[in-house]
Amino acid sequence: MRAKVLVTHPVIEGGLSVLQEHYDVEVASGLDSAQLRRAIVGVDALIPLLTVQVDESALERADRLRVIANHAVGYDNIDLEAARRRGIWVTNTPGVLTEATADLTWAALLCLLRRVVEGDAMVRAGRFQGWDPTLLMGVDLLHKTLGIVGLGQIGRAVARRAAGFGMRVVYTDPACPGDVDLGLVRCECLPLEQLLAQADVVTLHAPLDARTHHLIDARRLSLMRPDAYLVNTARGPLVDEAALVERLRTGGLAGAALDVYEREPVLAPGLAQLENVVLLPHVGSATRETRMAMTRLAADNVHAVLQGAEPPTPVVTGRRGKN
Ligand code: GLV
Repeated sequence: MRAKVLVTHPVIEGGLSVLQEHYDVEVASGLDSAQLRRAIVGVDALIPLLTVQVDESALERADRLRVIANHAVGYDNIDLEAARRRGIWVTNTPGVLTEATADLTWAALLCLLRRVVEGDAMVRAGRFQGWDPTLLMGVDLLHKTLGIVGLGQIGRAVARRAAGFGMRVVYTDPACPGDVDLGLVRCECLPLEQLLAQADVVTLHAPLDARTHHLIDARRLSLMRPDAYLVNTARGPLVDEAALVERLRTGGLAGAALDVYEREPVLAPGLAQLENVVLLPHVGSATRETRMAMTRLAADNVHAVLQGAEPPTPVVTGRRGKN
């Protein structure tokens, strides 16, 4: 009997071909957590999107499951402990989406600081009446300070791009206690509070877990300067979104560019009404090449485990009690 692979949502065409040759692959049209609990019975490998909670209540019905190959680099949607107890591999898709996500971070940052979205709306609405020396003035990046929270692969890719804009880069990350030389740019290590106070632009690249939930809360937002900007292309719950709305509304912060939200796809009340925000629909890794690479990496992880081999990018090993 061929092993059964369940993919919770449609993914990019062609990305699953390695699996379709060998296994019985079912691509669901979109499963929520309740539907997953029913569908997981008899499944050997699961490829969920980051929007699907794979928790204890799903895993207790997983009678055959050997691997959860998350279709994302983040894995905060998966109960790792529950998987570990059952000897189920958990894998993610690191590396392949680093550059695309760094590009999108800069796209959002530039749109915010140079008011690109407002300009586009103005021209489309027929409100552009010719060159005006005071029209839609933004701010320069040259010689400004970029504060990176989380200097992992994506944080570093964002830092390297800052060299092209002539910015000073500071960072905070529990794993890197000293300055980091990336060749093109040197990243000075600062405690989070000092980084928030010094940076003109703060950009978040930390994983979401119990320690980073609401890392940027009302108190930490109050440490940022009123002329500073916040960019978040990592995970929404890193930021207390209601506190951010309040800060932006009352002039405590110049603006924010967000690709992720605390309760996706729902926005905090008042966020969409603000003019000093750029709001994107969680598209950090959304290029054809990157999405193909993510799907193929998730498929390779499944294939390896179903062949009895070590998957390329494990988060939790399938050996009970070990990680
Ligand atoms: C996207 O948010 C990812 O974690 O890959």
